[in-house]
Amino acid sequence: MDPETLTLEDVRAEAKKKLKGICVVYKDCDGSPSNFCQGQHYGRALGLGGIGSGASFHNNWLALNKIELRMRLIGDSFEPDASFTFFGRQLTMPVMAAPVTGVNSFGGENVISEAEFNRAVVDGCNATGTLGWRGDTYTYSLDTPYGLGAIAAGRAGGVKIVKPRAQKDIIAFFHKAEQCGATAVGVDVDGCGSYMMNSHNQPVFRKTPAELRELVEATSLPMIVKGVMCAEDAIAAAEAGAAGIVVSNHGGRVLDHTPGSADVLPDITAALNGHDVMVLADGGIRTGYDVLKMLALGADAVLVGRDIVRAAVGAGSEGVRIQMECLRKDLCKAMLMTGCPTLGDIGPHVLAPDSARIPSR
Ligand SMILES: Cc1cc2nc3c(=O)[nH]c(=O)nc-3n(C[C@H](O)[C@H](O)[C@H](O)COP(=O)(O)O)c2cc1C
Repeated sequence: MDPETLTLEDVRAEAKKKLKGICVVYKDCDGSPSNFCQGQHYGRALGLGGIGSGASFHNNWLALNKIELRMRLIGDSFEPDASFTFFGRQLTMPVMAAPVTGVNSFGGENVISEAEFNRAVVDGCNATGTLGWRGDTYTYSLDTPYGLGAIAAGRAGGVKIVKPRAQKDIIAFFHKAEQCGATAVGVDVDGCGSYMMNSHNQPVFRKTPAELRELVEATSLPMIVKGVMCAEDAIAAAEAGAAGIVVSNHGGRVLDHTPGSADVLPDITAALNGHDVMVLADGGIRTGYDVLKMLALGADAVLVGRDIVRAAVGAGSEGVRIQMECLRKDLCKAMLMTGCPTLGDIGPHVLAPDSARIPSR
């Protein structure tokens, strides 16, 4: 593949070859029940699909897809500015790569190694002026911290999300993240039901507000709680001192039959009124238009998961750069067509009122 002329279509065509038997790389990665990746309940491994029936994964896409945008075109011309400040770091857009780990889910070392995958995501994001978030799974330890290795090597920042392990283990990862130049750290509290962690002798737990507070106080970095799907958890995280939350059902991979994240986002942003906490969201975001919808529903920024996997597998860091650039361009187009020169101008008014539950934050 010639990097000079590489397109997103080329990247996806390559990913389709490499992910044979795992992901068909449909044009819409929508978690539809009939999709090849779905159907864990018939005895298949999770792969890139959703847990159980796959309803939670599909609901993420449905929740976004039903929302329509309100075009508004008469007025002064402008060049949309999607730049975003993330805990003191200037980014070109409010879009970052979600923490995804475990290349065994998508073909293993034959397709891409864990270290290569992490480097591709972090470097590809940094090349577009944004950040790669990196996760945690049973193959990760302080001696094999693939995500943190990539962040340290890239020297341009990134976010480390740790599974809800024992407190002392999380704190050890946080301290390593500080040394590696991470921009923020966090815990995916929705990882507490992980069979994978438990069956590999890496126990994970529900976290109490006091434990979250302890984690906030244990690090000099902003601490983010990922996996919030209800107002009660959002308030508990904010009151424990979290700097940010991610409204997320983990891409529909942790509990069957949850709503889509875009469906719960308005209630959560309304409940957080008055709290100083950054709200991020992920789940089913595939285009810059989806990004605009999440921002209009009250998110400050978003994360993208599966499309980044396909991009990294297809063409490494260059694939991730191309995917991210495509999201940025479409977001700017969506801002232009809805009359929003800056992110601060985006609000519920860009959504067609009959198609969306309008947030009251
Ligand atoms: C294969 C795979 C592995 C994942 N690993 C992690 C992880 O280690 N930590 C984490 O917080 N989230 C993990 N996630 C969830 C993502 O961070 C994100 O919430 C989700 O993928 C967003 O939905 P999307 O894929 O539809 O964009 C993983 C998702 C996938 C598909």
